[in-house]
Amino acid sequence: LYVNASEASAKKIPQTLFGIFFEEINHAGAGGLWAELVSNRGFEAGGPNVPSNIDPWSVIGNESSVILSTDRTSCFERNKIALRMEVLCDREGSKVCPAGGVGMCNPGFWGMNIEQGKAYKLVFYARSSGPIDMSVSLTGSTGLTLAATNVVASDISNWTKMEVTLQAKGTDAKARLQLTTTRKGVIWFDQVSLMPTDTYKGHGFRNDLFEMLKNLKPGFMRFPGGCFVEGEWLRNAFRWKETIGHWEERPGHFGDVWHYWTDDGLGHFEFLQLSEDLGAAPIWVFNNGVSHNDEVATSSISPFLQEILDGLEFAKGDAKSKWGSVRAAMGHPEPFDLRYVAVGNEDCGKPYYRGNYLKFYTAIKHAYPDIKIISNCDGSSQPLDHPADFYDYHIYSNAKSVFGTAPKFDKAPRSGPKAFVSEYAVTGDDAGKGSLLAAVAEAGFLIGLENNCDAVEMASYAPLFVNINDRTWNPDAIVFDSSKAYGTPSYWMQHFFRESNGATLLDASFRSNPSNSLIASAITWKDTDRRAHLRIKVVNFGSNNVTLQISINGLEVNSIQPSGSTKTVLTSGNVMDENSFEAPNKVVPVKIELDDVGKEMDVVVSPHSLTSIDLLI
Ligand code: AHR
Repeated sequence: LYVNASEASAKKIPQTLFGIFFEEINHAGAGGLWAELVSNRGFEAGGPNVPSNIDPWSVIGNESSVILSTDRTSCFERNKIALRMEVLCDREGSKVCPAGGVGMCNPGFWGMNIEQGKAYKLVFYARSSGPIDMSVSLTGSTGLTLAATNVVASDISNWTKMEVTLQAKGTDAKARLQLTTTRKGVIWFDQVSLMPTDTYKGHGFRNDLFEMLKNLKPGFMRFPGGCFVEGEWLRNAFRWKETIGHWEERPGHFGDVWHYWTDDGLGHFEFLQLSEDLGAAPIWVFNNGVSHNDEVATSSISPFLQEILDGLEFAKGDAKSKWGSVRAAMGHPEPFDLRYVAVGNEDCGKPYYRGNYLKFYTAIKHAYPDIKIISNCDGSSQPLDHPADFYDYHIYSNAKSVFGTAPKFDKAPRSGPKAFVSEYAVTGDDAGKGSLLAAVAEAGFLIGLENNCDAVEMASYAPLFVNINDRTWNPDAIVFDSSKAYGTPSYWMQHFFRESNGATLLDASFRSNPSNSLIASAITWKDTDRRAHLRIKVVNFGSNNVTLQISINGLEVNSIQPSGSTKTVLTSGNVMDENSFEAPNKVVPVKIELDDVGKEMDVVVSPHSLTSIDLLI
């Protein structure tokens, strides 16, 4: 492998080349990164109809002691459904309530993770014609009380906000929230929320999952989907205005592509906040009047245009502007650094896409000339027939084909719009539930992108997250349940590219590459202490060991430091090896010190592996 370290042939890698794509799929947000523990907190999951669907809430007590139903009497205008709890038993008299009381419980998203010593903030709204005396508790899967307190009020004839903090005395990853009473009467409830108090910076993000994202050092974050943005039908698509403001007032919506209700606690503001917290440039994918099954004709697209211009003002506008002031009231007076938008998702071939796209392009460029616009149409092999800053490219295929697509952008245009590979992954049988083979093939593909960083601006794996209880899409980068998480090999593979954003790409070429099973790239970069590094990445997609003779040219004499160099390898005994909750570190990068380093050196690369050779220069 010849590496040419001279500046003449070097290229600057975009600051945004490797990033992440967050989609509300597989309960990635609701029941995932968004730390809300109550599922269906507004009893709205059936949509705005009566009776609504209160699942997964359930009753504590029998039919003769308590009746749960819904009506439309909530104080919240945009989510009118309230839960009506009629208690038929009492502390004394002919029908005495059971000792523990009657009421309702919520198991969260397949169990709430309650941890000893931690505090949980419970907020709910209630109304009753009489005094209330309730017990609220967090109960473990064996029935053990982990935290409990009483809520007493003499007059809540008008809707009243109740707030209590529950201190956990025990730990259980499958706990539930219980609201019970032994007092006869009728109580209405709405917007019952339970949040751990230790979310990332208090911004509502589950810490362990946030840290896994942060560790990828993403240059950008594309959000909130995917198909989630489009919807099967436009009426169920993500509409940003419905997801901002006080959480209690958000209507929530049913994501009809991935088939679950979200209360939209993780809304437009929170996505922008998340990008900022990650240090990643936000990329907002918006619906341009096109869903999977219906479309708005270009002649009627104006309301959609205005909605998006308002969304941009919300993110970028001055705190005194109409929508900027709404953002400021939510706690972020400074504008968010939103510089990229994608017009729709995978909609290029749809009848109204181009017409609608042009309307959005013109209106956005007029109002925000600095915003970069991404088209859904692929411009890799022929020029687009419409203006754009970037074109979208998605690839889901088997391992061989993804690895074989590494040279895809070798001949892509160097002028005009650059590529945004916003979704890539190995799928199908050889992906398993996240196999080594998939990760190695994807790494080869990414090295191809890195070597073409003058034609490719950004790339992100998809999907990012899966809650193990809702594996709608497989495979995914990060697998979690209520209390634990692990990275698939595809997650760890991305760690090898963490230093590439903003680095310098060097020329790296093979003198011989038997069966084209090798691909490599070389970069130089500086760490936070301004120390310079040279990283050579090699993928061996073949099934034999290869001894690589590395020759580094163009470096100053003796500029490779004698110590501090390392070799990091992602491989495993079997190409189909995966990580799991039982063995989360079966396929992870393994780093060793390299002591015999120089401008000429031999390095052995294992079969089906991704290897990074890191030299201090
Ligand atoms: O990543 C999963 C889905 O794949 C996305 O929602 C969509 O854009 C693509 O079809």
